[in-house]
Amino acid sequence: MTSSDATFKTLSTSPAAFVSLTDEDFQLFRSFFYHVSGIQYSNAQRYYVDKRLIARLKVTGESSVSAYLNELKSDPLGEEMNELIHLMTVKQTYFFREKYQFECLVHSILPEYVNTRSGDKAIRIWSIPSSSGDEPYSIAIYLKEFWRELARYGVEITGSDLDERILEVARQGQYAKPALQALPENLLRKYFTERPYGGYEVNKEIKALVKFSTANIHQTDLTQKFHDFDVIFCRNLLIYFDDASRKKAIHKLFNALKPGGFLCLGHSESLSRIESEFEIRRFEEALVYQKPKP
Ligand SMILES: C[S@@+](CC[C@H](N)C(=O)[O-])C[C@H]1O[C@@H](n2cnc3c(N)ncnc32)[C@H](O)[C@@H]1O
Repeated sequence: MTSSDATFKTLSTSPAAFVSLTDEDFQLFRSFFYHVSGIQYSNAQRYYVDKRLIARLKVTGESSVSAYLNELKSDPLGEEMNELIHLMTVKQTYFFREKYQFECLVHSILPEYVNTRSGDKAIRIWSIPSSSGDEPYSIAIYLKEFWRELARYGVEITGSDLDERILEVARQGQYAKPALQALPENLLRKYFTERPYGGYEVNKEIKALVKFSTANIHQTDLTQKFHDFDVIFCRNLLIYFDDASRKKAIHKLFNALKPGGFLCLGHSESLSRIESEFEIRRFEEALVYQKPKP
């Protein structure tokens, strides 16, 4: 029996004693979850992690952290893994978040981009992580509203996230008012329908522009099917990664873009500490990254 087995056994006989797990349990879980997601929990996040982990141990009836992790390893795509991912990741997002980048997309990136490529193929945009869909739907609304060339080229937007459960929420496209607060009133009226018992649902014309599909940016096998994008939004995820997982993710995003394609990161994320082949582009509205053409 490992010391983490021993600790939890003691705790499990007395539910009132479920205060925290041992340092060893925390380290064990931290390295497991890093391997799964690329997210690096710091010691300061110990309370956040312990609380959720203890809740899962109680629900599943596992006798120790190591036994619980073994169960997860035996079924890496199973329900419990999904539940854990849902609990352990930050979902915060809202419509028109950091909208200066959407401004940049319609006023600078796309006008330049469509002129430097041949043909009228649809623009392919990847929003990863999409969380509950606020970001990819915001992109769709922005293009409908502010990009004059949309009818000529068309757009295919893919929203991806590691968390299957949050993608179900995204597909439904139903939101409470706080998620819509940054959206101008006229666009709320134009692109959403008020629901009888509260909240709003995004209209079919916007839903039709966005498809959702699970993807884990930290694990190669899942991202291999995502490629040939013209623009990628990867915002407010890399802040949770360490330098190694950040580097790995940037490499995948680079490969998922067409030559000449653009990458938009969150406002507190940058490639400054990462060696990459991206070129920095400073537009009037935002700083973004471009994959060079051969
Ligand atoms: C804070 S939200 C960001 C949503 C949106 N991009 C925004 O900026 O508003 C972070 C999301 O990252 C997802 N996530 C965490 N690790 C991931 C990974 N390895 N691959 C894909 N998505 C991941 C979480 O499930 C969560 O929905």
